[in-house]
Amino acid sequence: EGNIEIPDTRYSFDGLFGTFDRGELQRGFQVYKEVCAACHSMRLLSYRNLRDIGLSAEQVAAVAASYQIQDGPNDDGEMFERPGRASDRFRRPFPNDAAARAANNGALPPDLSVIVKARVGGADYIHALLTGYEDPPPAGVTVMEGMYYNKYFPGHQIGMAPPINSDGQIQYADGTRATVDQMTRDVSAFLAWAAEPELETRRAMGVRIILFLIILGGLTYAVKRKIWARVG
Ligand code: HEM
Repeated sequence: EGNIEIPDTRYSFDGLFGTFDRGELQRGFQVYKEVCAACHSMRLLSYRNLRDIGLSAEQVAAVAASYQIQDGPNDDGEMFERPGRASDRFRRPFPNDAAARAANNGALPPDLSVIVKARVGGADYIHALLTGYEDPPPAGVTVMEGMYYNKYFPGHQIGMAPPINSDGQIQYADGTRATVDQMTRDVSAFLAWAAEPELETRRAMGVRIILFLIILGGLTYAVKRKIWARVG
């Protein structure tokens, strides 16, 4: 068996001039928060980063405050919990990798902060993975205890049960119909943003540089013409 080709998903941020769709990113965050965050951390993100996908300061404060965050030690040397603040990192579902494995049949749910950069295929791979489960598996394939057959996972046996498996699994805040395809796309887009929040500024800078080079090229040519005008 060779590598299976990852299907291409069309995203608003594809191509040279693509940009993120804020509505999609907000829905994707909702999917992460309500589904993936039960097992996967995103330790590089702070709640305040959600301003970037269009949440107001009040909304960010409300999201943060909905979590209890470990803090301390206080003056008495004790650890304590307090409601989250915008400056806190996303709360981790497990205190450490051993606890995460213990809760997942030995498999470690990887941190999703930069998973889109860490896997061949990027956001296309995430979408393919989330929709690539086959139950029953193809004829002749035996799936090990506690594993699931997935067409796009290297080796095809993954320790993650299909996390998004039914239409209407969540209720989108913006009223969008939460089909499996919609949820898996939105969360993949959100993970793409998380891994490269500066994508839009990077591309805008590229466009400015190209414009600058075109103008510089034109000027250089005009000056050359003038200097050499009387020769030959
Ligand atoms: C692995 C995404 C929900 C448990 C993974 C991987 C991704 C991912 C990208 C890595 C695959 C690879 O290595 O190529 C997601 C997303 C979720 C979600 C986007 C929400 C929509 C969950 C939930 C659980 C879970 C709710 C636990 C109940 C795991 C585990 C692995 C894993 C244990 C490691 C599997 C292995 O290496 O065999 N997930 N996940 N995930 N996930 Fe999730």
